[in-house]
Amino acid sequence: GYPLVRALVREPKPIEPAATDGWALPSAPPWPPAVGRERRIRLVVTRDVVRLPGGPSFPAFRVNGRFPAPEIRATEGDRLIIDVVNRTDAPLTFHWHGVHTPPAMDGVPFVSQEPIPPGETFVYSFVAAPRGTRWYHAHVDEVRQIPLGLFGPFIIDPPAGEAEGRPEESGGRPWEAEAEAILMLHTLGPDPENNPVGALTEGSGPVGGMGGMMGGPGRMGGMGRMGGMGGGVPPNLLYLVNGLPAASFPPLRVPEGGRLRLRLINASATEPFWLEAPGAHFLVDHVDGNALPEPVPFGDLFLAPAERIDAWFVAERSGTFAIRSKIPGQEALRISVEVAKADGESITPSDRGGGSHLPGTAESWSYWALAGGAGTALPAVDRVVPMVLSGGMMMPVWTINGEAYPRVTPTRIGAGERVRLELFNHSMVDHPMHLHGHTFWVTSIQGVPLRRPIPKDTVNVRPMERMTIDFVANNPGRWLFHCHQLVHMEQGMATLIEYR
Ligand code: C2O
Ligand code: CU
Repeated sequence: GYPLVRALVREPKPIEPAATDGWALPSAPPWPPAVGRERRIRLVVTRDVVRLPGGPSFPAFRVNGRFPAPEIRATEGDRLIIDVVNRTDAPLTFHWHGVHTPPAMDGVPFVSQEPIPPGETFVYSFVAAPRGTRWYHAHVDEVRQIPLGLFGPFIIDPPAGEAEGRPEESGGRPWEAEAEAILMLHTLGPDPENNPVGALTEGSGPVGGMGGMMGGPGRMGGMGRMGGMGGGVPPNLLYLVNGLPAASFPPLRVPEGGRLRLRLINASATEPFWLEAPGAHFLVDHVDGNALPEPVPFGDLFLAPAERIDAWFVAERSGTFAIRSKIPGQEALRISVEVAKADGESITPSDRGGGSHLPGTAESWSYWALAGGAGTALPAVDRVVPMVLSGGMMMPVWTINGEAYPRVTPTRIGAGERVRLELFNHSMVDHPMHLHGHTFWVTSIQGVPLRRPIPKDTVNVRPMERMTIDFVANNPGRWLFHCHQLVHMEQGMATLIEYR
């Protein structure tokens, strides 16, 4: 059988009662006991010139000789001991984005640790959890160090024999992915050495506009990107896939059966991506590495900076497909996928024994579609904390509750509490907000509860939007909560959440 195609033709879905009625925050511990192996990993950071095919040469960061940093792959429960050797001239740290580390291993300079000075080594040690598509990146001088190469995928597999979180589609067994592609999308300015993010910083005005993600996914799926506010795509940005200009990235090949596992990671400092693949669909089963209760077919995908999507690429026929951006100005971002049977015959949906898939049943991307629409009630919490996101007007300063990092008053929470952050975006650009050390659930948008709260670690809050995100305070420490549009972050959009 071909569970992938069966999943797509299984419709319509019965209407279930709204899951937020009675849905409660899961109270799982932040990490399991270190039951797995102990694994030692050595990451040596150097600076060296990278020459992009058909593009500029610039002094980049390399990790173990690689640009960008190599994949870390672990099994949930492994105890990882990671030596980070700084052979560069710049202080640095690594942050394990989406991994529930203890606070001292979180890589935030002056909160978790002192930056690792040139010539020195820092040893990170933590249990790999939770399972899923995570990533790691520099957390000092992020607007330079991340685009110049200090990021890589960090994939945590479930322990052997455990499903990755697609119980319904797999009949309880994990699918055997026939091909997996980890695609890290990132951007560089045309002069990476002097301006890695390609920021339009001359003059005053809202510098944040250079990453102005006006018009991310709309409530009903509509998207657009407004000009004004210095917005729009900065000109001449380079679009890279796993460190190669998209034009030089080799086509992905889908083996017989047409099952291609995509793990998409938006490592861009500033840019969102809105991807489509005409003639194909994406079956999305994880967001930010966290399993959805059931996979959702989408015709397009939107990733704000730091967001991840795991999806199966589903072609309806053989041929060559393009995964390409729908954002005007991002035409250079194209990845081709060749779908062919091993024996050269074409693939048709009836080969799968599942009948034909009706075009048009795949949804347009939105958090609403991910959540299965509106529910009726918000889950109970113990503490509600407003977080007002604003700034960027007249001055290149971005704030949370009026404060710019590092001059912030930490928000105090109690261990064990169920905490709700009420995000209000009082600005005209998107803010992809990331909470360190925890998984949270998006529980409402514009005051409307979601039917199935969405498990995430980074959420894109659109202009003038309100959103609630809920989490269990199960990882005591001091944690950063910040915008992952790195220019906004550098210009103050970060705060601390501290256990009392
Ligand atoms: Cu992915 Cu504080 O970062
Ligand atoms: Cu922001």
